[in-house]
Amino acid sequence: MKYIVCEKPGSFKLKEKSKPLKAAGEAILSIKKIGICGTDLHAFKGNQAFFTYPRILGHELAAEVIEIGENDQNIKVGDKVIVMPYISCGNCIACRNGKTNCCTNIKVFGVHIDGGMQEQISVPVNLLIPAKKLSYAEMAIAEPLAIGAHAIGRAQIQPNEYIVIIGCGPIGIGIMKLAQIAGAKVIAMDIDAGRLNYAKDKIGVDHTVIAGESAADIIAQLTKGEMATAVFDATGNKEALENGINYMANGGRYILVGLSKGKIEFEHPAIHAKETTIICSRNATLEDFETVISILEKGEFPVDSYITHNVGFSEMIHQFDNWLDPGNGVIKATVNF
Ligand SMILES: NC(=O)c1ccc[n+]([C@@H]2O[C@H](COP(=O)([O-])OP(=O)(O)OC[C@H]3O[C@@H](n4cnc5c(N)ncnc54)[C@H](O)[C@@H]3O)[C@@H](O)[C@H]2O)c1
Ligand SMILES: [Zn+2]
Ligand SMILES: [Zn+2]
Repeated sequence: MKYIVCEKPGSFKLKEKSKPLKAAGEAILSIKKIGICGTDLHAFKGNQAFFTYPRILGHELAAEVIEIGENDQNIKVGDKVIVMPYISCGNCIACRNGKTNCCTNIKVFGVHIDGGMQEQISVPVNLLIPAKKLSYAEMAIAEPLAIGAHAIGRAQIQPNEYIVIIGCGPIGIGIMKLAQIAGAKVIAMDIDAGRLNYAKDKIGVDHTVIAGESAADIIAQLTKGEMATAVFDATGNKEALENGINYMANGGRYILVGLSKGKIEFEHPAIHAKETTIICSRNATLEDFETVISILEKGEFPVDSYITHNVGFSEMIHQFDNWLDPGNGVIKATVNF
């Protein structure tokens, strides 16, 4: 069977190997469509921290079951499944507390172990989520949306509260739609006018604000001086992360979803006076995927405009460079098998 491996930064190779054999407790899946994520783009560029090569990338997986044993979920050959791509140990303190998303031994498909850029893959049955009613396109975007669902759950969004979401990439956009569904009044912020337009036109956020010196004043006007009771960072950008606190109301929550590699600094009085609750949000759980599946089933997410690029398996190698440039209007690229 065919697979694509990232041999070293900047180099993909299309290769052949034998089909996987089903191990105990696992199922063999035929990959149908995968979503390309910032992690894949960074791994290809060579600036993903702690990444080792060669690696088969891909963790946003829409698949069909082609071999499976008896299982509690009653998943059968021919069923459409989404893969929850985080393998957790089940024994550590986080797992025992139900926080499998931040397992101390977590292994993510396409990051720590080989992922889905291959025709077939063997996956533990407990990571399969049946998605009978969804299209492969909807299934392939469930993972990035589940990241958003997890952040919304962490934030405990309340109806009618003002929230600011900084970063209108695929992650921020997912949070915006899910926050809206939870009843929040959403203010989207970015430095990129095109992405803000997307948030306004396709997600229908209440307000858009260009990041910069006057952003805090604009948010003060929009919220009648009260500021936002929850602020999300979905940029991972140091400057954005450090500024986010300025848009937050006293008693508010600051939810960090974006990943920054280095230190971020806050003036202690600035966070203390507001009695800031800083909440990090990492990966997602089964419940988050289920939330997303239900939203996708109801047609509440603009899947068609979110997937801006879609190509075939062998074409991907030639297109990947284009997806690194936000100037090409890419939000989510997907690859068909
Ligand atoms: N928590 C998790 O488990 C998890 C999972 C996936 C991704 N992430 C992280 O979430 C972040 C967003 O991912 P993405 O794929 O949407 O990224 P992306 O790069 O596509 O989008 C980031 C957006 O932030 C904007 N931005 C950059 N600097 C800014 C600034 N100073 N002010 C305002 N906006 C700014 C960019 O213009 C862009 O639109 C990344 O840091 C990614 O690593 C976290
Ligand atoms: Zn992803
Ligand atoms: Zn664990």
